[in-house]
Amino acid sequence: MDNRLFFPATQRNRESIGDVLTRVIRKKDLILEIGSGSGEHGVFFKKRFPEIIWQTSDPDSVHRKSISSWIEYEELNKRMPQPLMLDVQKIPWEIPSKLANFLKGIVSINMIHVAEWKCTELLFMESGKLLNKGQFLVLYGPFKIGNKHISQSNYFFDNSLKIKNNLWGVRNLEEVSEEGKKNGFLQEDIIKMPANNLSIIYRKSS
Ligand SMILES: C[S@@+](CC[C@H](N)C(=O)[O-])C[C@H]1O[C@@H](n2cnc3c(N)ncnc32)[C@H](O)[C@@H]1O
Repeated sequence: MDNRLFFPATQRNRESIGDVLTRVIRKKDLILEIGSGSGEHGVFFKKRFPEIIWQTSDPDSVHRKSISSWIEYEELNKRMPQPLMLDVQKIPWEIPSKLANFLKGIVSINMIHVAEWKCTELLFMESGKLLNKGQFLVLYGPFKIGNKHISQSNYFFDNSLKIKNNLWGVRNLEEVSEEGKKNGFLQEDIIKMPANNLSIIYRKSS
């Protein structure tokens, strides 16, 4: 059955997020993606970086079905693992030891603003336990800087998120990075992305 979902933003941002990933990914790396959504990013990155292992995950079973459908549609079944059920709030994360042992980096795209703040805290806390010195965590999405929106469209987007769920919202970069710091991650780079989004590269420093 074709359970593929289509998230239009992925078509617009996948190329530029892939460009950011070229800065951190090395051949044959095993990357865990948190909140993979439809799975469109996962299959795109697997095709762009054929030698990596891209492990998708999502807590939503409809999304996981979509990810599996995309993997099948792109004929990647033999080259890409099936999505994990991973909710950042359910700690400790249940990660197969084979995956945990070879993990080189974690990527989360457009997740932390559609989840309560606790999810950002736990994302860093659990990633900090899984990753070793020199390994990376990349976040992509809209952010406030100095508690101010960087565009009017982000301001309107933030309001629309809060109408859906008052625990959601565009996060303040300094507070996000502070959570990183608490868990051994240094903010290595901030990259301006199209449509007033940012990519943030964090590097495990201890
Ligand atoms: C806006 S969608 C983004 C999906 C995909 N990364 C993209 O950019 O198209 C947010 C995703 O975060 C996932 N998510 C929400 N809460 C989560 C949590 N507590 N743990 C992990 N993922 C979560 C949702 O299920 C959804 O797939």
